[in-house]
Amino acid sequence: MKRVDDFRLQLGSHELVPIVVGGMGVDISTAELALEAARLGGIGHISDALITDVADRRFDTSFVKEKTKFYKLNIDNADKSSVKFDLGHVAEATRLHVGRTMEAKRGSGLIFVNCMEKLTMNGPAETLRVRLASALDAGIDGITLSAGLHLGSFSLIADHPRFRDAKLGIIVSSLRALQLFIRKNARLERLPDYVVVEGPLAGGHLGFGLDWAQYDLRTIVREIAAWLEQEQLDIPLIAAGGIFTGTDAVSFLEDGARAVQVATRFTVTHECGLPDDVKQEYFRANEEDIEVNTISPTGYPMRMLKSSPAIGSGIRPGCESYGYLLDAKGQCAYIDAYNREVALHPGSRDIHVWDKTCLCTHMRNFKCWTCGHYTYRLKDTSHRLTDGSYQLLTAEHVFRDYQFSTDHRIALPEVLEEA
Ligand SMILES: Cc1cc2nc3c(=O)[nH]c(=O)nc-3n(C[C@H](O)[C@H](O)[C@H](O)COP(=O)(O)O)c2cc1C
Repeated sequence: MKRVDDFRLQLGSHELVPIVVGGMGVDISTAELALEAARLGGIGHISDALITDVADRRFDTSFVKEKTKFYKLNIDNADKSSVKFDLGHVAEATRLHVGRTMEAKRGSGLIFVNCMEKLTMNGPAETLRVRLASALDAGIDGITLSAGLHLGSFSLIADHPRFRDAKLGIIVSSLRALQLFIRKNARLERLPDYVVVEGPLAGGHLGFGLDWAQYDLRTIVREIAAWLEQEQLDIPLIAAGGIFTGTDAVSFLEDGARAVQVATRFTVTHECGLPDDVKQEYFRANEEDIEVNTISPTGYPMRMLKSSPAIGSGIRPGCESYGYLLDAKGQCAYIDAYNREVALHPGSRDIHVWDKTCLCTHMRNFKCWTCGHYTYRLKDTSHRLTDGSYQLLTAEHVFRDYQFSTDHRIALPEVLEEA
């Protein structure tokens, strides 16, 4: 019986353990988590979601404070079109986060940054160009473009000196999305170095509608693998979404995938950026505690714990501080939903907004508990302690369990609790 360790992912000159820890914003897939994946010979992702805030917390900068101060007078204004990012700040924050992570890298693996294109930042093209170029400047090994994939993104950095040497990949959930991207980029003569195929059981935003349950990762992986072969395109395919055991992973590696991208099992590790009490929420979750809803202002369905404090919260939009979801015209669906509720409840201090959420603020504060479908199985991956909590895992333990397990077995950690 094969193990994941019997396979290798070849990316250019790099021979890697075919395990990719997926990007989880905002700083849920921390540098510490990504560094462990790289040290163990796989690929780890950091994320550039809310990069100015992440830099402030990690490096003692004050980008968010400065932005808030600059736009203070706009806070009660429904029109956010004037709230722009300082591109110099975005560049500096990205260079700090990426640069420090790369300096700390050990081992033979790689570190990529996950760039969600739905973070349109009231200026989609110019902000994305700065995010991508600064990550390349700071030495990132690769960039994974996700959520809201824009067909012209590669061309934004086509003149960057590292455009052909850094690894560039995309996340798609259908063959059609991949075909469109490849067609649109044909003139750049620069194919993606890898394609993550994300199915409907993943965490974060989904590339499916509310009919997500009718799709299945294996069918999509087979379809895309067959098309790549037919077109003689040698682009490694990385399967993602609901791969919970090493045996699940092996079945995809035998089915045309060259690696797997996993995330949910790492949400309960020490290195994950979620606060410890939230990690316990993930451990405790049962299947009926998880839903796919449409509260994300991005328009994409998102999977999360039903108990997420973000659901129903009616906080004032935080665009003057964050504003990562403002579109090219300075609009965000949460602003409209919030203003509607304020107008319906004049004078009320207790506003609830159920249809949308202020995703920037709530992700920043770890109040939107997005998670993969199999979060309810996390309790089977550790020990329950005498106080009723679960023992956190190390990223190394989870990584190696994916790498070496057989027969759907999940290795439990050594018990740390004293008798
Ligand atoms: C807590 C959490 C946050 C996530 N955030 C992002 C994100 O910011 N960007 C992204 O492209 N994918 C995100 N994802 C998706 C993962 O990178 C990954 O592709 C997917 O969850 C893999 O499936 P699994 O969680 O079942 O292993 C997130 C997943 C989780 C669990």
